[in-house]
Order: sequence, then C-alpha cells, then structure tokens
Amino acid sequence: MNKLFNVAVAGATGAVGNQMIACLQERDFPIKNLKLLATARSAGRKLRFKGKEIPVEELTEESFSEVDIGIFSAGGATSQKYAPVAARDGCVVIDNSAAWRMDPDVPLVVPEVNPHAVGQYPNKGIIANPNCSTIQMVVALAPIHRMAGIKRIVVSTYQAVSGTGKKAIDELYDQTKAMLNFLEPEKKVYPHRIAFNCLPHIDVFLENGYTKEEMKMVNETRKILEDDSIGITATTIRVPVFFSHSESINVETRDPITADEVRTLLEDAPGVTVVDDPSKNLYPMPIDAAGRDDTFVGRIRADESVPNGINLWVVSDNIRKGAATNAVQIAEILANDYLGK
Ligand code: A2P
Repeated sequence: MNKLFNVAVAGATGAVGNQMIACLQERDFPIKNLKLLATARSAGRKLRFKGKEIPVEELTEESFSEVDIGIFSAGGATSQKYAPVAARDGCVVIDNSAAWRMDPDVPLVVPEVNPHAVGQYPNKGIIANPNCSTIQMVVALAPIHRMAGIKRIVVSTYQAVSGTGKKAIDELYDQTKAMLNFLEPEKKVYPHRIAFNCLPHIDVFLENGYTKEEMKMVNETRKILEDDSIGITATTIRVPVFFSHSESINVETRDPITADEVRTLLEDAPGVTVVDDPSKNLYPMPIDAAGRDDTFVGRIRADESVPNGINLWVVSDNIRKGAATNAVQIAEILANDYLGK
C-alpha cells in the first residue's frame, strides 16, 4: 500500500487555505489525517473534507508533533514564528508566505520549472511557495529561457483582490454594491477605493521606489530560473477583479526566437494552455482562467521595437496555481520522491 501522510493546513479558514483543502481533495492527496489550523477565533468551526466535517483547531507550538507535511498560508508573521517550530518536530513545511522565500537554504519551487529544488528541503525543513504573480510568469517564461536565454523582462500586472485575502474579496463586493446603490463605499483593506479603480500599489513601498510585490517578482524569478543575470523590472497593479491575475510581459532574448516558435514551444509546455486566436477574439481572460489550474498565454507577438523581443499576455488563477495548487503539487513531489520512499 502507498504511504499515507498526516497533513496540516495552517490558515485553513482563509481564501488560500480553503482552496488548499479543496486541492488536496480534488487531487486525492494520500492523507491519513488532516488537521485544520487557524486562530483561536476560528477554533471549533467545521470545514468539509471528503464528506467529513473537520473541526478547526487553534494553531499553537504543539500543533505539529504528529504532522508529516504542513502547508502554511496564515501570513508572514505566522510562518516566521511557526515554520521552524513545525520543522523542529519533523514536519516538512510548504510555506505560501514571503517569510522564507529568499532564504538561501530554503528551496523556492514551481514544479513545472525547478522540481529538483524540492530535494533541498532537509536544509531547514521548509520549502517556499513563490508569490502568485511570479509563479504564472515563470511557468510561461521558463521554456523560452531554456530555448533562447532571457536577457530582460518588463512586466506589468493586473492583480485580483483575492490575493489580499477574504477581507479584500468582501471589500470589492461591498464597495461595488454600495456604489451601484448611490451609497458611500467604505474603505477598510486598501488605502483607496478598489471598486471601479486601479491601484498602482501592492504590498509596501520600498526605498528604491518599487513596491515589495514588484521586488518579489524580480528576486523570486531569478532564484527559480537559477539565473541572476536576467534584468527584470515590474509594475504591479491591483484591479477590481475577484479571481485571476493577468500580466503583460515583454521579454528580450539572447538568441533569436520568433513569435511562432514561442507559440509552438508553449503549446507543449507543462501547465500552459495557449489561447491565441485574435481573429476569433480569443485570448486569455481572468473570467476564463478562474477555477482552473493552467497558466493561459496569448497575444504572442514580436516586439518590433527591439531585436529578439516578444510580447505575451499571461493569465492564471492566483488562488489556485498562484498559491494552493502549486503548494499541493510541491507536496506531491515531496510525498512521491522523498518522504514516501
Ligand atoms: P482566522 O480565520 O482564524 O483569522 P486570509 O488570507 O484569507 O485573510 O486568511 C488568513 C488565514 O490565516 C486565516 O485562516 C486566519 O485564521 C489565519 N491566521 C492569521 N493569523 C494567524 C495566526 N496568528 N495563527 C493562526 N492562524 C492565523
């Protein structure tokens, strides 16, 4: 019989945590016991998994003694504090926060791109799940990088509110409803109204004028593609969309590659679906990507302003491939290739 694992989801009541539970169920992850963890406020609430009601427990230092794999999405501070506690107790942590991503001892993994990096998990007992915007970008760009060597990336994002969590989903809904009823919309999560607006501001501003989200895309992409020589500049924008991030990506390659070659390459790439037939108005859109696991790529065309330039439009569900699905795929590699042996 194949080995079964004791699994914990930390942040189980959140937008990503909920999807993690759904992904574990959909993908039939080999689970012996599933533990659901959140704050004391949520303790006792019941969540469904495979037809059973599982009570949420408060996350404490004692939560991980019997757990093989802990999937965390409860914010950076929680991961900073509890991931080492879990690892000390022999639980391998797959962490969705930014807390450990750039630690040189912690692998940062996108299974379609660098699955081999999972093998570094014994360093700290922690594997980091990248930022949602980074994941979909590297899924689309890794095949191009392997074929033609990417020299420079210019990316602008159009990011859904679900990336900020449940409260932000409610905020977009409530503000939209208020405005359509000629009422004053309330601001609680974002510094400005998000309904019928765009905010060029995701995460905090840094001294170099970029936001932390923008610098995550720069640094994480280099780490995952294992190439610090790639020039990357990002502008990240929050838009009034509930699910799925979109990205306008411009790349310059070292070797020549045509738009048709990129299209063929991406049609065969793992985790990618090419939707690119402008004559029929076919291109990726958040409403089509939501609820699915692939990264959708379209508008593939030469950038005629530079030699070896390509433009792409890349869309993916930020809660699924951008967070929960990617984390569960990492857990699958861990279970099949390392812990299950
Ligand atoms: P809770 O629902 O009890 O507050 P989201 O990103 O959608 O806002 O969800 C965040 C998730 O992280 C929730 O499940 C939340 O639990 C959980 N969480 C936040 N802070 C902590 C903490 N200090 N300890 C445990 N879980 C936490």
